[in-house]
Amino acid sequence: MQPIKTTALAALMALAASAATAASDEELRAGKGVYMTKTCLACHGREGAKPVLSYPMLAGQNEAYLIEQMEVIRDGERVGTTDPATGHPYVTGMVDIMHLLSEDDINNVSAWLASLPAAPPKPLDPAPSAELLEAGEKAYRQLGCRSCHGPDGSRPSNKRYPFISGMNPEYAARAMTEIRDKVRTSGQSKLMFGTIRKADDEEILAMATWLATIDRSEK
Ligand code: HEC
Ligand code: HEC
Repeated sequence: MQPIKTTALAALMALAASAATAASDEELRAGKGVYMTKTCLACHGREGAKPVLSYPMLAGQNEAYLIEQMEVIRDGERVGTTDPATGHPYVTGMVDIMHLLSEDDINNVSAWLASLPAAPPKPLDPAPSAELLEAGEKAYRQLGCRSCHGPDGSRPSNKRYPFISGMNPEYAARAMTEIRDKVRTSGQSKLMFGTIRKADDEEILAMATWLATIDRSEK
């Protein structure tokens, strides 16, 4: 064993790994440019933090997760459910836009969004009852969601898994239901199926509501 050499090598490897993943200022600027010019702003809001309707928050999401979702949406693999208000799938607007983005655009906009601070959650109206929040926390713990998403949805155990706290509760409930009902089978969603299939609609609503009250911007 040569402990000193081993440590030096490990340090070098860590340096190389961070150099390979950290986005340059130029890439971040290009990413912001994509966001501002390709209409992302209209649906996901300022700095990815103020989405309209029941659309997902993107600010501070994991970069690899963002890239993969844009690719599966672009390629028609993530279909999802239909928005009763429009009669079209929720992803339709995204699909139309994704064809305007190059692979570099996808990488840059993901790096920029991941570099932004998560926003504090929007206060829920009406305010949820204490019982509902408790039921949500309990179901989350008992079903074993923490092993992948962390104790409160703010600490995914793998960089490719999403943050799920502080999101719009309607979006989170929809995502959980789509994964449970095998409507969303794209990306890595199959990993979660064994866990979410045990959740009923009430538990999904409670978990989505509880997660929506957690402030990830403070972590
Ligand atoms: C017309 C509205 C609209 C536009 C424009 C739009 N999006 Fe979306 N986006 C959505 C909706 C709605 C969803 C969620 C779809 C669903 O429910 O399955 C979504 C989902 C996403 C997701 C997956 C999020 C997650 O948590 O899984 C990413 C990433 C994303 N959008 C990035 C972008 C980027 C970057 C742009 C600009 C190039 C953009 N979107 C433009 C409406 C839009
Ligand atoms: C084995 C790991 C694993 C477990 C356990 C797990 N998840 Fe997930 N979850 C994932 C992965 C991976 C994704 C991303 C799926 C994809 O690629 O589309 C995801 C996606 C989600 C999303 C959608 C995020 C978005 O932005 O669209 C929500 C909400 C969610 N999980 C909630 C839960 C809840 C609640 C539980 C417990 C009932 C749970 N997950 C258990 C791995 C897991």
